[in-house]
Amino acid sequence: MANIKLDYGNCMSEFVGEHGLNQENLQSLYPKLSSAYNIVQQKKQKGLLGFMELPYKTEDAKKISDFAKKQRSKFDDFTVIGIGGSALGNIAIQTALNHPYWNLLSNKQRKKCPRLFVPDNVDPELIKSLLDVLNLKKTVFNIISKSGTTAECLANFFILKNALLKKVGVKNWQKHIIISTDEKKGYLRELANKEGIVSFVIPANVGGRFSVLSPVGLISAAFCGIKIEKLLEGAREMDARCGQDISKNPAAIYTAIQYFLYYKGKKINVMMPYCQSLKDVSDWFRQLWAESLGKKTNIKNEIVNVGPTPVKALGVTDQHSQVQLYIEGPYDKIITFLSIEKYRANVVIPKTSEKHYLEKHTLNELIKSEEEATRVALTKQSRPNCTITLPDVSEHTIGQLLYMLELATAYIGELFEINVFDQPGVELGKVLTYGLMGRTGFEKEKKEIEEFLEKKKETQYAV
Ligand code: PA5
Repeated sequence: MANIKLDYGNCMSEFVGEHGLNQENLQSLYPKLSSAYNIVQQKKQKGLLGFMELPYKTEDAKKISDFAKKQRSKFDDFTVIGIGGSALGNIAIQTALNHPYWNLLSNKQRKKCPRLFVPDNVDPELIKSLLDVLNLKKTVFNIISKSGTTAECLANFFILKNALLKKVGVKNWQKHIIISTDEKKGYLRELANKEGIVSFVIPANVGGRFSVLSPVGLISAAFCGIKIEKLLEGAREMDARCGQDISKNPAAIYTAIQYFLYYKGKKINVMMPYCQSLKDVSDWFRQLWAESLGKKTNIKNEIVNVGPTPVKALGVTDQHSQVQLYIEGPYDKIITFLSIEKYRANVVIPKTSEKHYLEKHTLNELIKSEEEATRVALTKQSRPNCTITLPDVSEHTIGQLLYMLELATAYIGELFEINVFDQPGVELGKVLTYGLMGRTGFEKEKKEIEEFLEKKKETQYAV
């Protein structure tokens, strides 16, 4: 089966002059990359990098697959309740591998698989509206939270459980719930044990944003008919390609390019698929890159703030929105194109009464020409860009792509000398919210935020 490929030629100074790098620059990074590779391998051996074990958990995937096959025709709707790493992977896989209008297809067209909803917000309008469209008697909720305590996930769960109770009664609501959480701890684990709710384990050594190939991403995918074993197979294939020989390791080369250009001022990494189905892969990647790499760190006794800013764009849509900025704006970006060789449809542009240059061409040719044109235009304006090409969009190639990007995140974290797997910055907002929501133990935070808001009231900085 075909492999995805990384072409980084347009990052080389040969094509983008002083804004790129040369072979010597690249090779000078190899020792650093080798050491990053070794550290990652050592951490893996110590069991610290659970995401690298996931592609090999084939038995777990089979269990999920069998379970989904038995259950899915019982439900019209599958609803994921989770946020961040407990939601974005589900969306990315579904958008990539199923029909773009999946929820509008008939049950027969969906081969009796359920519709999928992932309301990853606590906006009251969103959750209230969700209740307008779900048939609760035929809905299954997958409550996903590694910690089992995340406020957004629990709040939405409590609301939906309440609604469910009213519709199906106290003896039956449990049959409409699947819990994915830590093996031992947290409120959701306790609830699953107490109520006898079907549950799956998110391994303790797998961080939220690295959990797409764990039950977190696989259950909804399997319910929606996606061949999850093939996703893992693709990831394993990428793992095999990402070996010690840095020059042949796509994740390491992607890391090298990004790292080198970051320190040349290209602090923004735009991921731009030329393929509608990959648009949410860039959304998933945005979280992976931002939450993993945006860190305050201490290097040689100096506090350093690092982190490339990931931006998502979509070809061709954003040619009419963002590309002007990418071509003529500041020289602070590197573009990562996601390109596909074979679309799953071929659409001919028909003849019109007047002769037209578009006639008899296909949309496939048009989107490809626009992709090539944008790539060339960027390169000619000395804007470094690289392209990850997928032979097609399939479980096998998506598995490769997700895994390659996860591995690159782990490598580049070693180069930046940061901990990729924590998110202390998110904590501050969380504890202040707890304070405002009156959670016991967070009285100090409540006072702190109230004082701040009071002071703010006295100022005149609003019009
Ligand atoms: O990547 C992460 O760790 C976060 O985005 C989490 O996934 C997110 O905060 C949700 O956490 P939890 O799964 O514990 O509810």
